Amino acid sequence: MDYQKVKGTHDFIGEDAEYLSYIRETFFKVTSLFNYKEHVIPTLEYSEVFSRGVGQGSDIVRKEMYSFLDKSYRSLTLRPEFTAGIVRSVVENKLYATEVLPIKSSYLGQSFRYERPQAGRYREFYQGGVECIGVSGIDYDVEVIQLCLELLKRFHLDDKVALSINYLGGIDTRERYTASLTQYFKGHIEEMCDDCKERIEVNPLRILDCKEERDQKVASNAPEITSFLSEKEKADYEAIKERLTLLNIEFHEDTHLVRGLDYYSGLVFEFNVPLEDNALCGGGHYDNLVSELGGPELEGVGFSFGIERLIQFMKDNGIKPESKKSKSFYIMPLDKEVSNYALRIARLLRENDYRAEIDYDGGKIASMFKRAERLNLDYGIIIGLDEANAKTVQLKDLKTQEQISVSYDKLLEEISK
Ligand code: HAM
Repeated sequence: MDYQKVKGTHDFIGEDAEYLSYIRETFFKVTSLFNYKEHVIPTLEYSEVFSRGVGQGSDIVRKEMYSFLDKSYRSLTLRPEFTAGIVRSVVENKLYATEVLPIKSSYLGQSFRYERPQAGRYREFYQGGVECIGVSGIDYDVEVIQLCLELLKRFHLDDKVALSINYLGGIDTRERYTASLTQYFKGHIEEMCDDCKERIEVNPLRILDCKEERDQKVASNAPEITSFLSEKEKADYEAIKERLTLLNIEFHEDTHLVRGLDYYSGLVFEFNVPLEDNALCGGGHYDNLVSELGGPELEGVGFSFGIERLIQFMKDNGIKPESKKSKSFYIMPLDKEVSNYALRIARLLRENDYRAEIDYDGGKIASMFKRAERLNLDYGIIIGLDEANAKTVQLKDLKTQEQISVSYDKLLEEISK
């Protein structure tokens, strides 16, 4: 039998693995500049965390969760996203009582959704994001957008994305708006796709961002959320737009941007790659998620990037992971007698943060050079009996082919030049 990866999963090999580790390193460096701390949560949660947190009406809970009964018949779910899990962890550990508010958590890891695999859409994928919990007002709404842009800037992509924003309002507003939408869509039910016919009852808001042309046509005349916002919500939304303008952050208002998760209740936003259907990053403000999961009345705001989409976008723009790798060496012992000396040299290099590989295979020097070339290493260190006796090595630059003799004691000094 040929073994294959599970549909919708993928391996990170070679350059892809380099992209992933470069993004991870840059991500935590930049989020820490905004004072976020890494928060690591389990991949598995009790299913209620997501059914309550993300919401029964969301596509994720309705059809995309990897849920199963464990051996004690508890329903567990592989996280489809991080926000509900982070909030569960904040509430369970009562971080709101011991930490200075807002609690600023950053994370990067796998999420799982049973979606139809296609370009940029996987069943196991990486998300990197933040949650800022215990906020009030709009300051952190704008700060998280600034953080997204700073991240994109580090990847040289900040001028290649489009920011869309919308404001969804609190429970009362959503209820009134949903009732009005339901009534409107019921009048057009015959013109809509099967999925949206079902959504009328469970989540009419999602019809607004359905990708089917006929639903978009119906949605284009649907009532807009802005006319349902309270005075306070309108003022907050205006304040966000003013602050973004003041910071020279370009944005586009999209009254049909509702996002796929039920917990949003204020600002929602997405960063999109022009001409691509899939968002690169999405986020927003949530008023009730913390209390919904058993905590106090605390508001939060956050976002998540899709890392595979980010990698693809970097590749499309010719942006390579910036390698911080140290110089690398291939140690070539020409005789069994010198193997202890070769081991000492490898230890000296590794202890000083240089990458070193020993040729344990022996054989002809020409085949050793071939292996060094295939490994794409910088220098060869050639050791014969003469070198071992004199405590020297032959140091060869594998790119320029220049070769010099260096004493063991001077080796570090020479290679640091
Ligand atoms: P989301 O929009 O569902 O939001 O996902 C965030 C990002 O994850 C998307 O913009 C996309 O780049 C990536 N993504 C989602 N599904 C897939 C997939 N099947 N394959 C590849 N990439 C995917 C959330 O998950 C929210 N938790 C974001 C958030 C944080 N809101 C507040 N805080």
